[in-house]
Amino acid sequence: MFEKLSLNDTKVRGQTVLMRVDYNVPMKDGVVTDDLRIRETIPTLELLEKKGARRIILISHLGRPEGKKVPELSLKPVADKLKELLPDKKVFFVADVSGPDVEEAVEKLPVGGILLLENLRFFPGEEENSAEFAREIAESTHAEVFVQDGFAVVHRAHASTSAITSELPSVAGPLLEKEVTSLSKLAENPAHPFVVVIGGAKVKDKQPLITKFLKIADKIIVGGKIAADIADGSLSDEERELLTSSDKIYIASDFATDENGTKLDLGPKSTAEIIELVKGAKTVLWNGVLGYVENPDFAKSSQALAEFLGKEKGIYSVICGGDTTGFVEGLQKIDNSLKYGLISTGGGAALELLAGESLPGLDSLDDK
Ligand code: 3PG
Repeated sequence: MFEKLSLNDTKVRGQTVLMRVDYNVPMKDGVVTDDLRIRETIPTLELLEKKGARRIILISHLGRPEGKKVPELSLKPVADKLKELLPDKKVFFVADVSGPDVEEAVEKLPVGGILLLENLRFFPGEEENSAEFAREIAESTHAEVFVQDGFAVVHRAHASTSAITSELPSVAGPLLEKEVTSLSKLAENPAHPFVVVIGGAKVKDKQPLITKFLKIADKIIVGGKIAADIADGSLSDEERELLTSSDKIYIASDFATDENGTKLDLGPKSTAEIIELVKGAKTVLWNGVLGYVENPDFAKSSQALAEFLGKEKGIYSVICGGDTTGFVEGLQKIDNSLKYGLISTGGGAALELLAGESLPGLDSLDDK
């Protein structure tokens, strides 16, 4: 059960709401290339409007500028994307997070307006979890309530996820609530048979997840570069030991290669075996693509799995990790009949929650 106070139980009529979102989205040449995290905040913005919030101030980080102003990491293009997605709403941007420019922008904001502040990580106080930095934001924005809806960042103890909650009444937004509820159910009480598919590049990042799911999953499938590294003998002894420790773990062993022999996708045999293994599952968690999907020639195994899961009605599938969600969403744009239980906005946060670790940005919110 979700134990934090939620926006659904909170009155915000006539109030100025400060909301943490995670608009840390991929960009190329100043243009947002994957807007999942932005789109997923729209229902919350609509809920705030319905509940009569007077004005909404959004805060986020983008990339890792390490406390310095890095123009390429400004959130301005994200504000433009938000405007494009919400053509009927008044969306503004201000190039600071506190001080006179922010105060002025907030005062000028029309009723129902949305104001996105600049990248929080341009300021050292954010990652230092500085109380003073959080207080300055709360004061400059005249916020009366804080809504945490940035699920993808709640594994960080930063000023906008932790210190800010000492300044304002702090509640969970619906996106955070939905992600935490769905992923916790998966980690604690999944419907069986439960199959976990792990792809991507680094075993080290996936190790806690594999260890945790060895206890509760019925099958763990390993593909992607991790499987290629096993076949090439380039894993450490410890990594190899973990992956070969249980007969619950299936490791792909047939690959498609480029002209130099580099293994860049799974081959037809492993792809067919993986589909066979997920057939009949009630729950599937998929984290990490199975090949080098940037090149369509090497996206075949990932595509086969995504299409199978997207069409199979009896499987509740959860897709997480930026490369995997981006890939699956790309396929949905071509075939909108593909449906998944949850396409998670969380990368590291989802993995930490699934591995049973605590999330400071969730723990710090007000209890029910
Ligand atoms: C993410 O993309 O996983 C989150 O936005 C967190 O970003 P970080 O790893 O830079 O803290």
